[in-house]
Amino acid sequence: MPVEWDDKSHVFHLYNNRISYLMEVVHGKYLAHLYWGKRVQVLQPGAILSFRSRAFSPTTEPSDPKFSLDTLPQEYPAFGNGDFRSPAYQLRPADGSTMTEFVYNSHEIYQGKRPLNGLPHAYVEEKSEADSLVITMVDSKIGVGLNLHYTIYRDIDVITRSVSFEHLGGQEVEIHKCMSMSIDFHHANWDFLHLQGTWARERHIERQPLIHGIQSISSARGASSHLHNPFVALLSKNADEDIGEVYGVSLVYSGNFAASVEVDPFETARLSIGINPFDFIWLLKPGETFQTPEALMVYSNEGLGGMSRTFHQLLRKRVCRGVYRDKIRPILINNWEATYFNFNENKLKEIVGSAKELGIELFVLDDGWFGHRDNAKSSLGDWEVNKKKLPHGLKGLAEYVQKKGMKFGLWVEPEMVSPDSDLYRKHPDWCLHVPGRNRTESRNQLVLDLSREDVCAWIIETFTEVFTSAPISYVKWDMNRNMTGVGSAALPSERQKETAHRYMLGLYRILEVLTGRFPDILFESCSGGGGRFDPGMLYYMPQTWTSDDTDAVERLKIQYGTSLVYPAITMGAHVSDVPNHQVGRVTPIMMRCHVAMAANLGFELNINKLSSDEKKIVMAQIGQYHKIKELVCFGDMYRLVSPFAGMDTAWMFVDQNKEKAAVFYYKILASPNSPIIRLKLRGLNPRKRYRMNAGKQEFFGDELMQIGLTIPFIKKDFTSQLILLEGCQAP
Ligand code: DGJ
Repeated sequence: MPVEWDDKSHVFHLYNNRISYLMEVVHGKYLAHLYWGKRVQVLQPGAILSFRSRAFSPTTEPSDPKFSLDTLPQEYPAFGNGDFRSPAYQLRPADGSTMTEFVYNSHEIYQGKRPLNGLPHAYVEEKSEADSLVITMVDSKIGVGLNLHYTIYRDIDVITRSVSFEHLGGQEVEIHKCMSMSIDFHHANWDFLHLQGTWARERHIERQPLIHGIQSISSARGASSHLHNPFVALLSKNADEDIGEVYGVSLVYSGNFAASVEVDPFETARLSIGINPFDFIWLLKPGETFQTPEALMVYSNEGLGGMSRTFHQLLRKRVCRGVYRDKIRPILINNWEATYFNFNENKLKEIVGSAKELGIELFVLDDGWFGHRDNAKSSLGDWEVNKKKLPHGLKGLAEYVQKKGMKFGLWVEPEMVSPDSDLYRKHPDWCLHVPGRNRTESRNQLVLDLSREDVCAWIIETFTEVFTSAPISYVKWDMNRNMTGVGSAALPSERQKETAHRYMLGLYRILEVLTGRFPDILFESCSGGGGRFDPGMLYYMPQTWTSDDTDAVERLKIQYGTSLVYPAITMGAHVSDVPNHQVGRVTPIMMRCHVAMAANLGFELNINKLSSDEKKIVMAQIGQYHKIKELVCFGDMYRLVSPFAGMDTAWMFVDQNKEKAAVFYYKILASPNSPIIRLKLRGLNPRKRYRMNAGKQEFFGDELMQIGLTIPFIKKDFTSQLILLEGCQAP
């Protein structure tokens, strides 16, 4: 069994062929963390922990003075019993204290993985794919049970963790903090890596050495956010793309989160991730259960590249769902940057016509089709088509698109309301707000209160109608502001601090119903680009609009950083106009195509503005995309050269059989008399011969990986090359 309990040593061992995770019940009560990493066999599991007496570290076991929770590597630590480090959870029982004493009570080992009630999570299709463990700790004084949920996958090097608090009776308890996972590493000689950014500059990589004290990232914006992604990693000092140890942790949640690492004086490191405890309190009444979001924990001893490929496999196969999970997505054109709000049926038909000629497969009508929305100032909430712009309605336009041989897609922003809307005039209490306080607007809009059942029901029914009103194959689900005045008119005062999390539960419920009712619609989530690019949203919608920044140069960093966790098939990437609307840069159409082709290819420009030469390039690149799309969407990704390091970027995709590969190389600014670039490829079969670009040149896999592929010099800024490799027989 890949989850073992040793009755003598009181050690749990979760393992597959490559990784191990070990815990021990110490003194029959406390759950200690022993090890997580490369697979080990343990002869004397009980001998892993060693204790030293430390001044000022109190003990809860007077008969064992060396023992202290302050120095014990723990699985789910509390505060108040001697551990002065940052706790994983904190409850406030009815006596007003924040002290609890949870002790080991029982455990259950089972095959498979159970779903998390109401929350997105990694899943199994067959029980044999994973094994799970639930460890129950109980604080009998307050009558609360704490269940630690673990799953280990057999073929994916992932451990998932979450926690549920179960009120078994007695008085009410408040949950003030409840991280989804916490781990104490035995040393702190790691680098801390995370993805930071802002609107139009999402998921840039930042890496720094750990220092004493707490380093943390978080969001208190009501969304996982553009600023920090719910992901952190600890890296050994030598770790790069290919070598070294990496521990990556990602949270399956789209709301406020926090992740932190604390280094103590004895050089241990405590890593945790979960709901942001700031501004959060959950009231747990007798008989109720609170379930935390799930953390995905990946160990790699093949550097960041190995970590990413594991996350990619898990997210692609066991987090994303629905018919599009295993399908190539259609090449789309979106009218947003071509028209913004200023369109009518004829203008859209022109875009459709020219897109079809180039081989584009889906037309997406973006913002501005409803109410009297001619700018961002009104109408969110009034989801009736604007007949002045679209006299034949959505149906008429969608049918026109279909007749042209393309699919039709629609933009919506269901979670929002404009103060200038009939919906707001009718239901001013339906938005998040604190009664008697200012309602802070952002992009002239307010956030609907999804913690309310009635609001959720209204969204479900309204968008069921919208999605059935026309033949819609694709929906872009947008969300263009963060939360302020977080309060709900429907919740009692003692539950106000639950609003932000209840909002997420409401959103997930809505998405479960709508994606279930419309299984054939391809949903893409969006939040001003990538403001909610997280595994939680991917559970419902298998792709996300990566960023509102479509500049080819900026996109290199955004897509490279995003790929640390998220596979290319989850990223929307569009070829847009020049000068670029976000940075004013002019890049050639070839580079714009090559950047967007490394994800789900789309277009977002007035195609009629392209010259005939540019149109030829677009058509040729769409042809190329058809050749490589399986590789990009389902292959293994290897990052070769980082855009964060200089003027070059390169990455490649290889199929599972190592028969085919697509290599992308990009040069931002050319430099004079520059060195010869030999790109060392990865992931190929060393003994296989590969033919380059269906031409005469052939190379062995080891030649390409050890000596490298010489990249021809081009005397120009903003150049790119796509190199196709195909396995071939020796002549
Ligand atoms: C923000 C999105 O990221 C854009 O692509 C576009 O859909 C606008 N919203 C429309 O308001």
